[in-house]
Amino acid sequence: MWTAPIWTASDAARATGGGTGGDWRAGRVVIDSRAVGEGDLFVALKGPNHDGHRFVADALGRGAAACMVAEGVAGERLLVVGDTLEGLTLLGRAGRARAKARVVGVTGSVGKTTTKEALRRVLGGFGAVHAGLASHNNHWGVPLTLANLPPDANFAVVEMGMNRAGEIEALTDMARPHVAQVTMVAPAHLAFFEGVEAIARAKAEIFEGLVPGGGAVVNLDAPHAGLLIGAAGRRAGRTVTYGAAEDADLRLTGLDAGPDGSTVDALAFGRPLRFALGLPGRHGAVNALGVLAVVAALGLDIDAAAERLAGLEAGAGRGARRLLPVDGGTALLLDESYNANPASMAAALDTLGRLPGRRIAALGDMLELGHTSPALHEGLLPAVLASGAGLVFTAGPMMRHLHDALSGSRRGAHAPDAAALAPLVRAALRPGDAVLVKGSLGSAMRKVVDALEG
Ligand SMILES: Nc1ncnc2c1ncn2[C@@H]1O[C@H](COP(=O)(O)OP(=O)(O)OP(=O)(O)O)[C@@H](O)[C@H]1O
Ligand SMILES: [Mg+2]
Repeated sequence: MWTAPIWTASDAARATGGGTGGDWRAGRVVIDSRAVGEGDLFVALKGPNHDGHRFVADALGRGAAACMVAEGVAGERLLVVGDTLEGLTLLGRAGRARAKARVVGVTGSVGKTTTKEALRRVLGGFGAVHAGLASHNNHWGVPLTLANLPPDANFAVVEMGMNRAGEIEALTDMARPHVAQVTMVAPAHLAFFEGVEAIARAKAEIFEGLVPGGGAVVNLDAPHAGLLIGAAGRRAGRTVTYGAAEDADLRLTGLDAGPDGSTVDALAFGRPLRFALGLPGRHGAVNALGVLAVVAALGLDIDAAAERLAGLEAGAGRGARRLLPVDGGTALLLDESYNANPASMAAALDTLGRLPGRRIAALGDMLELGHTSPALHEGLLPAVLASGAGLVFTAGPMMRHLHDALSGSRRGAHAPDAAALAPLVRAALRPGDAVLVKGSLGSAMRKVVDALEG
């Protein structure tokens, strides 16, 4: 792998304009004091609820090489800057500037983390890859990812997310990707946008930061794909497209989805390509083609990359499947409790529809959808019917709209929240069932998963 340390005291002081009295070396940059280990640089950020400066002594006690702070006197193990978020940003920019890695930037309404983790694995076949943790995709997550980028890594994968226009532009300016991808455009965080086209425009900001001659990767199935292609074309040296659309460079032509993975048929620049895939669902196959499109944009071998897709696994709460013991048999759990918006709901219901047995859906509210929220919840009905779900449980005030739209034996119980719904789903489960649990993080549908597993 690469060589630690990532930051010396003098490099970090030069990057941030800060002052330090020490001669320390840090192998990692960390913002959570509880995660600090031997030799880390702890950055004390001030958040709405916590001030990292309170944990500086704790971080030093855990063996931190140094702490970046906005208060105190520069000393042996303190790097003093004017503002620590600005300091982290400058460190990230310096990390990016000195890196030899080819950087891939990933944005989109859904599928960013799934794509990032798939790229981590797939690009690992071509060199040393650095990618951020979890969904570190915002104004601190992106600089944190870049500050941790080892100077000699071959590839870096940077997830970029947003709630408002202009945010991706700021992030892509830090990451300066060689390849920039938009995975999907869908209603999410609608409270801050006029509509889906405005969301597409905000996603397209990622191309503004492309290095000259860089590559763009666009999901042609996304709403307003034309807008994305246009924005990409103004910046990119090359645009690679993917999806089920007829003119996609990486085109989905067939999917054989089994409970443990899929076989995907595609055309790669007109050439037939078949590969095994560890990700669930049709959306998993599209995400995989997006990964291959990035590989193509980087000028790497698509066939070698495709061979690594079989080993992928769905992330926690993002389609991970588990067997649940029920009354002397088992039921199959499709755990999508991590998050939800209309696009990922539709994708998860499609995945449920490919599973054998009686299908049960337990759905919690999709949050942050503004005034269109009731219509978007009721609007799940066609996808629910198409999934063949025989029993649909709902939780939360917005899911009430879907509950009311359901009829007959398909209409299961409705509860005010996930905690109240959990025992009802548990009681209904029979051997041979397939059960999908999905909702926004704030809807806490994880409680239903816990009840089913407990
Ligand atoms: N291409 C896709 N189309 C529709 N749904 C998808 C797609 N890719 C992933 N999903 C679903 O969206 C949810 C979130 O996936 P993932 O964590 O990869 O997205 P993300 O964009 O990183 O989300 P976040 O904004 O929360 O960081 C999961 O439930 C996943 O199954
Ligand atoms: Mg994410």
